[in-house]
Amino acid sequence: MDKIRIYGGTPLNGEIEISGAKNAALKVMTAALLTDQPLVLHRIPDLRDVASLSEILTQLGVKLSYDAGKKTMRLHSAAIASCVAPYDLVRKMRASILVLGPLVARHGEAKVSLPGGCAIGTRPVDMHIDGLRQLGVEIELVDGYINARAPRGLTGAHIHFPKVSVGATENIMMAATLAKGTTTLVNAAREPEIVDLGECLIKMGAEITGLGTDTIIIHGKAFLRGTEHAVIADRIEAGTFAIAGAMTGGTLRLKHCNIEHIDYLLDPLHKAGVDLVSDGDTVTVKRISKQLRGVDIMTEPYPGFPTDLQAQMMSMLTISEGAGMVTETIFENRFMHVPELARMGADITIHGSSALVRGVSKLRGADVMATDLRASVSLVLAGLVAEGATTVHRIYHLERGYENIVSKLSSVGAKLERMKEEAA
Ligand code: UD1
Repeated sequence: MDKIRIYGGTPLNGEIEISGAKNAALKVMTAALLTDQPLVLHRIPDLRDVASLSEILTQLGVKLSYDAGKKTMRLHSAAIASCVAPYDLVRKMRASILVLGPLVARHGEAKVSLPGGCAIGTRPVDMHIDGLRQLGVEIELVDGYINARAPRGLTGAHIHFPKVSVGATENIMMAATLAKGTTTLVNAAREPEIVDLGECLIKMGAEITGLGTDTIIIHGKAFLRGTEHAVIADRIEAGTFAIAGAMTGGTLRLKHCNIEHIDYLLDPLHKAGVDLVSDGDTVTVKRISKQLRGVDIMTEPYPGFPTDLQAQMMSMLTISEGAGMVTETIFENRFMHVPELARMGADITIHGSSALVRGVSKLRGADVMATDLRASVSLVLAGLVAEGATTVHRIYHLERGYENIVSKLSSVGAKLERMKEEAA
């Protein structure tokens, strides 16, 4: 396994191009299962999670080709070859559960392993299962698999999610596009990635209204057709680099970045002493105060502060003047980066789902271990400002979600290198 060594202390200056959104790409890829016609997708990032889902889709009979240079993927699910998504493939990534809805809606049958993914809490899939049951799907849980059957097809329903879930909203929305009649999703998630998926489904012939609101209405169709779609920019990658710019104190331009999708960052970063200014699709991040200041944040469903930027923000607070309180409301057990940041000299106290971060004058480089995708990148950010060298081990997680992170950061002046673990 590889590691990354970072030599801290250089401000980041220049331009970084934001990739297509991982969490939008994975969803539109599964939408290929809803039609027997080809789907052509643009701005698909070259990431391990994309490769993992490609493997699952190929197993299900999708003919898939990916041009990593052009970031274009062609998927053709002419016939479903298998309706089984096995444990070995699904365990690598929780988003694999998203094949369940499209598969059972089109094929009448699906057998999908209960998912794995980042080790951040228990992360159940009960709302995916309950939602599909309400659409008339018979579901049994046997030997770690979800066995789903709908021999007479799906029927539209009024579904009220007890809790806001990105994945459950997407899975049920996709299944409902092929159901008989109308489905109403109440307390639906509003993330831009869901809007993006919905817009792709509409191009495929689906009838959907209410995208981006908490009530989504889907009028089912007998079949969907192929289309072409370019996914939105990755707002979490953009937010991560914005925080990196804030921490290191240079001026960073983030190209292909929609400022509306990172609105939740503007106020906390401004209070911390950082400005974000948008010009067309470029957002410029610039620190305006000499010293960053502590701010409080609480993670919430979109449009609130995203849990996927919580670790990065905490990294920034470790070197901010005063203190900041970070409250995590989406996932339990999402403070795995705290002991690693503490190894670098951070002063953080956890109380239940909150962490009080008292700023220190500097972090010191250390050997740290990546535990999940966003925790990993928070350690890279800490390394960018730490005194001396920081080595982030087990970067496997990082590669699941950040395209070319070493070369992107190097191109704006960061000093870091990727190394083989045994070369230590
Ligand atoms: C997606 C994102 C992930 C992000 C998360 C929250 C993808 C591939 N992943 O994950 O990066 O951190 O949204 O913004 O898009 N829950 C249940 N039962 C369910 C489903 C979810 O209790 O059936 C709970 C979860 O445990 C969690 C909360 O609902 O506490 C939100 O999870 P959810 O929005 O479903 O996250 P994902 O779709 O898995």
